[in-house]
Amino acid sequence: MAEKLNLTRSFELFEQARKLVPGGVAGIRRPYNFVPGEYPIFFDHGKGGHVTDVDGNEYIDYLCAYGPIIIGYNEPEIDAAVYEQIRTKGFCFSLTQPIQNTLTQKLTEIVPCCEMAALVKTGSDATTIAIRVARAYTGKTKIARCGYHGWHDWCVEVKGGIPEKLYEDILEFHYNDLDALEAILKQHDGDMAGIIITPVGHPLAHEVQMPKPGYLEGVRKLADHYGVVLIFDEIRTGFRCAMGGAQQYFGVTPDLSTIGKAMANGYAISALVGKREFMNVLTDKVFLSSTFFPNSDAQVAALKTIEILERDKVLDVIHAKGTQFGQAVEKVVGESGLPVNFTGAPWMPFITFPKDETGLYKTLRNEFYTQLIRRRVFLQPYHHGYICYRHTDEDLRYTINAIKEALDELKSLA
Ligand SMILES: Cc1ncc(COP(=O)(O)O)c(C=O)c1O
Repeated sequence: MAEKLNLTRSFELFEQARKLVPGGVAGIRRPYNFVPGEYPIFFDHGKGGHVTDVDGNEYIDYLCAYGPIIIGYNEPEIDAAVYEQIRTKGFCFSLTQPIQNTLTQKLTEIVPCCEMAALVKTGSDATTIAIRVARAYTGKTKIARCGYHGWHDWCVEVKGGIPEKLYEDILEFHYNDLDALEAILKQHDGDMAGIIITPVGHPLAHEVQMPKPGYLEGVRKLADHYGVVLIFDEIRTGFRCAMGGAQQYFGVTPDLSTIGKAMANGYAISALVGKREFMNVLTDKVFLSSTFFPNSDAQVAALKTIEILERDKVLDVIHAKGTQFGQAVEKVVGESGLPVNFTGAPWMPFITFPKDETGLYKTLRNEFYTQLIRRRVFLQPYHHGYICYRHTDEDLRYTINAIKEALDELKSLA
């Protein structure tokens, strides 16, 4: 039996925060998204593949800040490049610094669909401008979507404060189901502007799905057939599945793509990238500007991150580690005899409990993630994890064993 963690300081800070910030902390980081009472709420610091909470508990962290941490926390080489820029030049100006060109040139060399790039800050910035470009290019309104695309009005799940007219032209379809997508395109033929899809399926709290053979090719064909803009939302898969993202890994090139998260190992930057023909609407037809978009601190971080990813073949290492880890976890999960699934290897490992009529899966899920956090393995019950470069073989071995022990603890409940 692993003991409950001491989380006193986390809870004190949360009480204080609730008086200062609505909900105490923002959205997905709130306690109900973990196991309330068992998980820390505030971190103090991180290094490599580990994080330490405000009570001094150290964890092997597989959530990786929800995706940006591709190398590791607190990477001196990246930080040094950013400090140098701040110290010698500064990073926030009324006009653009030339590093914009260096970074966007690099993106054109790496990402298959990228002939031009627009640098923004968040994933939501990038997906929102992507659909605006698709609408401006086609002169049409409706968008077919599949996946999480951020918090903006057109796509957020929670509809509070959003008039229906702002999302009524967005039509949702399920991943790996070509017929469902075609039905939408057929029904709204003539009104469709684009398709936005995550090239790997990762719906919240559900198994991670890789594309079925021919699926992404089929989506490409449908987009061409119906004359709509195809957007791959690669905010999670960019700089993770391959340097050029899932589009490179799976060999299917969209018209536009959004990238972000892993691009700068934690610094805030994202981009809409794509073919010149589509991107050119941003030249005159479509407005895109924001005070902080051109800040060069994150551009420096992105360039340095990309340099390290290439130099140290980071993504190959992650792929190899993730594959080995995945095989071992699959074995442990299979041998447990419990109703539990393991998906997402090598990049986005996720242990889920399939829904059952009695609701037992909720008890199993809670207990499993409780047992894991007590063993200092930080994951999220409703979101897949990530492997980063700094996760050591020892971290992974420890985690496989912790998963086995946590599953063993469930046997009396199942
Ligand atoms: C696939 C995908 N698209 C868009 C977003 C939105 O990004 P952000 O949270 O930076 O606005 C996310 C965030 O998790 C994402 O995973």
